[in-house]
Amino acid sequence: MKGIILAGGTGSRLHPMTYAVSKQLLPVYDKPMIYYPLTTLMFADIREILIISTPNDLPSFRRLLGDGKQWGLTLHYAEQPKPDGLAQAYVIGADFVRGEPSALVLGDNIFFGRELPALLAAASARPSGATVFGYRVRNPEQYGVVEFDDQGKVLSIEEKPRAPRSQWALTGLYFFDRHATAIASSVKPSGRNEYEITDVIRTYAERNELRVELLGRGFAWLDTGTSDSLLEAAEFVRALERRQALRIACPEEVAFEMGFIDKTQLERLGRAMPNSEYGKYLLGLASEH
Ligand code: G1P
Repeated sequence: MKGIILAGGTGSRLHPMTYAVSKQLLPVYDKPMIYYPLTTLMFADIREILIISTPNDLPSFRRLLGDGKQWGLTLHYAEQPKPDGLAQAYVIGADFVRGEPSALVLGDNIFFGRELPALLAAASARPSGATVFGYRVRNPEQYGVVEFDDQGKVLSIEEKPRAPRSQWALTGLYFFDRHATAIASSVKPSGRNEYEITDVIRTYAERNELRVELLGRGFAWLDTGTSDSLLEAAEFVRALERRQALRIACPEEVAFEMGFIDKTQLERLGRAMPNSEYGKYLLGLASEH
């Protein structure tokens, strides 16, 4: 299965912080934001990943992540010249995906939960259709919203509705079968002139091929869209990490846990950052094993 991280956009809601730095490179406590969605894909055992960003920001992502070999991954890069919508990821990534199943994650989406790796493994194992994830929020009007009947059948999917029909937001993590590129190519621009991923998802729903997994209690799906939510996400990560002396969303640690790299490689990555607490953490991990 292939993975795509969409890390484009102007980050206008975070100006001036995002004038010179891509939003998805801003720190969330102790690591760049994109580490969070990247490790989400890694937990789904996805090792071949396309990173899509603006022509301006792509060189910074390359500098940070390289070819991915250090973490046992293969990373590719592609430009999205204008933020014309999420479905465009599949048009830009058509040659990369090549009609294979894939997962798309937004570069600013942070997921946390013990059960997550199992859910991701199940989603990537499903041979056909699409799997998306719902999360109950206070402000559904700011997201894609999914509505169900009592049996859990999807009744509607709307992008940022003024009057949401449920409290279940669609998170920015999507698993699609090999038809995603064809469906995305047929999507027409929406009222706000964007190629909406919700239109792709709706097509799967109309074909009765959509599965919605609800992330209930015990899961965190954090927003990073405003200065406040960005700080709150960092505080969440900090509280967990300091209490348990464990870090979350470290690509080095996940690569080691998933068997993408061995102990010697983990040690080498830690030794490359001897002055940071993060580097010391990696060395600690290597010596524990
Ligand atoms: C996008 C999607 C929306 C989804 C959200 C999750 O919105 O269009 O359906 O709920 O991501 O982060 P955006 O953040 O691009 O406004």
